[in-house]
Amino acid sequence: MSSVKVLDDIYWVGAVDWDVRTFHGFTYSTHRGTTYNSYLIVDDKIALVDSVYAPFAAEMMARIREVVPPEKIDYVIANHVETDHSGSIAEVLKHAPKAKVVGTARCKQGLSKHYFGDWDFQVVKTGDEIEFGKRKLKFIEAPMLHWPDSMFTYIEKDALLMPNDAFGQHIATSKRFNDEIDENSLMVEAGKYYANILWPLSSLVIKKIEEVQKQEIKISMIAPSHGVIWRSTPMKIVEAYLRWAKGESEKRVLVVYDTMWGSTEKMARAIVDGISSANVEAKVYRIPSSDRGDIIGDLLEAKGILVGSSTINNGILPTLAPLLEDLKGLKPRGKISAAFGSYGWAGGSIKVIEESLRQAGMEIASPSMSVNWVPNKEEIQKCYEFGKSFAAKIASS
Ligand code: FEO
Repeated sequence: MSSVKVLDDIYWVGAVDWDVRTFHGFTYSTHRGTTYNSYLIVDDKIALVDSVYAPFAAEMMARIREVVPPEKIDYVIANHVETDHSGSIAEVLKHAPKAKVVGTARCKQGLSKHYFGDWDFQVVKTGDEIEFGKRKLKFIEAPMLHWPDSMFTYIEKDALLMPNDAFGQHIATSKRFNDEIDENSLMVEAGKYYANILWPLSSLVIKKIEEVQKQEIKISMIAPSHGVIWRSTPMKIVEAYLRWAKGESEKRVLVVYDTMWGSTEKMARAIVDGISSANVEAKVYRIPSSDRGDIIGDLLEAKGILVGSSTINNGILPTLAPLLEDLKGLKPRGKISAAFGSYGWAGGSIKVIEESLRQAGMEIASPSMSVNWVPNKEEIQKCYEFGKSFAAKIASS
């Protein structure tokens, strides 16, 4: 695959990772792979905005060479320290000895602690600009979106925002622009990316978007560091971020459970019937056959979640622990939740689930639903009523 012209004098020179299936270690799934986007700006001066994950350095260098000899690069803009974007900076600098690295003060600290290089570094802050010829690169610090070092780079002449991780999606594709791929799949991936990475930072997302809106900067294109470039209706993803950050959601319930010998599963099915009877949509995920990252992505726009587990050793089935741990960290906004599950003698799973949901900042809407051993006909009816009543709360929220 060649370098791709994004706009006059601006080229995509990144890399497509078709194989990666988990990100941030094994934190969440990337079923569709990802891209590491680098952009080459060729004006009187030449800048590379971000690099790629180290195993893809040679690919990126080859794409740069298609456009300019790398030794002509004057600046390497490091919007973010994380290794999927900074991992090839050292390689670029080997071929571009006069290049200066540009980033925030926290970026300088972070890069030196990652790569231990004695690089020529220019620290920038919000509002700083670098003259390039026909264009200027302008910088906007974006601390904690999603690391303390994060920054956006903006080119006024092209109304082009390069916000690094923000507005990204984990999609490997031979296409580079949003209008070239299926929009529904794109928004699902953009939402999953938001939920799994940016959810706990939602108040900062709102603040940063409002700050940029106040500056009244024109944005015709958003070129993130993962996935496709938002060329057609770029503000659609900004509006989606605002919606997600504010916790706006649809009247839908996720029922997520695991079961030891089938009793909790019987409860789940009756609960789903109850939810459906109230004309509220339910989506069911059994753990561990369902993917945790997908569930979190789906929760982004669902108002409610019911979590169920059989009791074992006075607690939950361990298969549910990673999801509950994730939710505690991600702190989903504006969700209504409750717990259910079966037990043999001393219960315990309900208490553990409720404590986790509380720690995740969710409202616990109704008394939990527990059943001793196998649910009988009356208890199945109670589970049905439990689902119906939960759905009514969702419908009226
Ligand atoms: Fe895609 Fe925070 O790195």
